[in-house]
Amino acid sequence: MFRNHLLPLCLVGGLFTAGSSFAQVVTIPVETQHNALVLQTDANKNLKMVYFGARLSNTAEYARIQKMYNQKDDSGILNSAYTPSGSANLSEPAITVTHANGDKSLSLAYVSHEVTKVADDISLLTVTLKDPVYDFEVKLFYKTYFKEDVTEQWSVIKHGERGEVILNKFASANLNLKGDGFWLKQYHGNWAEEMRPEEARLTHGIKTIDSKLGTRANLYEPSMFAISVDKPATEDEGKVLLGALEWSGNFKIDFELDVADNLRLIAGINNAAAEYHLKPNEEFATPAFVYTYSDQGKGDASRKLQRWARKYKIVDGEGSRLTLLNNWESTYFDFNETKLAELLKDTKKLGVDLFLLDDGWFANKYPRNDDHAGLGDWQENKQKLPDGVSWLVKEAQNNGVKFGIWIEPEMVNPKSELYEKHPDWVIKQPNRPEKYFRNQLVLDLTNPKVQDFVFGVVDNLFTKNPDLAYIKWDCNAVIYNAYSAYLKKDQSHLYTDYVRGLYKVLERVRAKYPKVPLMLCSGGGGRVDYGALKYFTEFWPSDNTDPLERIFIQWEYSYFYPAITSSNHVTDWGKQPLKFRTDVAMMGKLGFDIVVSKLSEQDLDYVHGALKNYDNLKEAIWHGDQYRLQSPWDNDAASIMYVDNAKAKAVMFNYLVNNRYGTGTHVPIRLKGLDPQKKYQVKEINLYPGAKSPIENDLVLTGDFLMNVGVNPRVDKNRTSVVLELDEAR
Ligand code: DGJ
Repeated sequence: MFRNHLLPLCLVGGLFTAGSSFAQVVTIPVETQHNALVLQTDANKNLKMVYFGARLSNTAEYARIQKMYNQKDDSGILNSAYTPSGSANLSEPAITVTHANGDKSLSLAYVSHEVTKVADDISLLTVTLKDPVYDFEVKLFYKTYFKEDVTEQWSVIKHGERGEVILNKFASANLNLKGDGFWLKQYHGNWAEEMRPEEARLTHGIKTIDSKLGTRANLYEPSMFAISVDKPATEDEGKVLLGALEWSGNFKIDFELDVADNLRLIAGINNAAAEYHLKPNEEFATPAFVYTYSDQGKGDASRKLQRWARKYKIVDGEGSRLTLLNNWESTYFDFNETKLAELLKDTKKLGVDLFLLDDGWFANKYPRNDDHAGLGDWQENKQKLPDGVSWLVKEAQNNGVKFGIWIEPEMVNPKSELYEKHPDWVIKQPNRPEKYFRNQLVLDLTNPKVQDFVFGVVDNLFTKNPDLAYIKWDCNAVIYNAYSAYLKKDQSHLYTDYVRGLYKVLERVRAKYPKVPLMLCSGGGGRVDYGALKYFTEFWPSDNTDPLERIFIQWEYSYFYPAITSSNHVTDWGKQPLKFRTDVAMMGKLGFDIVVSKLSEQDLDYVHGALKNYDNLKEAIWHGDQYRLQSPWDNDAASIMYVDNAKAKAVMFNYLVNNRYGTGTHVPIRLKGLDPQKKYQVKEINLYPGAKSPIENDLVLTGDFLMNVGVNPRVDKNRTSVVLELDEAR
């Protein structure tokens, strides 16, 4: 008999346990402002995910959803909320184990669930599942951010068996979606080619995106994706889930279209060469898988994720950021105190907040004069910096700017004193030739002594230089020849414990230096994920700073990460003029990496004006909502806007991305996100000195007009980059 027992628990605390004499059907809706995910037990206490979509107005009806389906489910494989393997479930599992006695079967039955209110906006549902035969337990966690429509989901695995249990697979989340077809938008890339999108309909069978790189795991295939339901969602229409794994190491995300045309999504740490030995009563917590859902297109979904990230995830997401001048591309490794003193003056002259000293400032026995030597030896190079970093920090202050520094503390060059002293701290196979990525190897962060060392790199810098104001944390190698001298027999723990070790270090850094800005860099965006961004204020999307390329790269990252996290530097890459380069970099966290002394008076005037405008608009760009108006992929001109939370100020960026004959904006572009009732003064800003705008002076239009008719930024071959500011007219 199918019995309903509805527990409308989404926001109320309480503990509920399944009766033991008969199998009650338990329905657990997990609701956010617009959405619901519904879990339900079947007659055998299997926990199923029976619904994912728009929140229903009558909560009582959640219990009825599953009754509407009469799909065959002989072996109970359909819709499992966390699919075990080796027993009745025969589809791709979320979890596979080897019990202490060698048995590989697992069955998970619902035992209880409880909801706790974490904060006004946040609830945590915990569902406990147990194997009826073995002393083996999985707790599923669903942390919901009500207003933002975001859920973080993870699991904690534990057992009380006699001896170690091997976790062969241990996913974070196992979702089941129903729909008339599913479209996956995924990404691929490489150095300087980050975030290239592909979208395709999922066919039956399993499609996997994964990484086995160890570190900088997102280099080739990032763990972010979009799933459209029923039809491919556009920017403003359609049902879409955006998801990402909060993990900075190997991951695996499976999308399986099953026999009943449900989409089974299983996301977690990649189990390839990574089985985990779990001692009795030891808890294994998976990383969280974060997702949001919208039935109003990818744009709406991305704004939800961006709001959530600013409010709850990234460091100081609702705070401020520093503009900066970086010296990487202007000097590479070739600098000394005199040159840097000049660059500090240039920082002031340019009008930015901070000077960021990049790679090349350290190591003495094997000086860091190129990328073949020195990594690991974090003492100032005496020839380049005889007076040390502290002199530079002071000199920066004398110039009225702050000082920041580059490190890559997880890595080591074989040509280094660190390698000579501690070869056992390095990840490498003892019996195989060393294999390098950018001439370097990765330190073994599973080893607590190495964790202390890496923490010490940061801590020493701040202890010696309390006024140090910024760190760029780089990570340029993958893990080859994975072997840890520290882990001994538990080699398969390496990929997981590496990331855990990294997070332990970052926890310590943040405990001691809670707010200092840290840039997450990985030869570009190879490590951008919310597991790492929890400790960082911003990330480096790509070494490719050609602004034309950046329009595409930043466009795609923005579906997952808010503009305040996107470090965009004006460099000499590409053929575009300074104005174009600066306008593009303004769509995020603005910085420069150029030779200031080569700028003309007019260039400098332009930059000063742009910085002033940036200051005026940063509230909208950093903390407001972003609207993608016209995609660079399908149009001659790309157009993106940001609106502040009061809908009183907005900025619209427009760029020519196709240089063929006659290209440009010939019709108005409709704006979004404004208040239809308000009137806005529209004016062109960031004009290069001497340039005249064809946009009429004193143009005042209602939000209604701007969103229904639009405005033509008049982009063409002579006006390849146009920035319009909108201010509420009073
Ligand atoms: C890779 C980074 O992406 C660059 O910006 C620069 O910091 C170099 N590393 C330095 O080696």
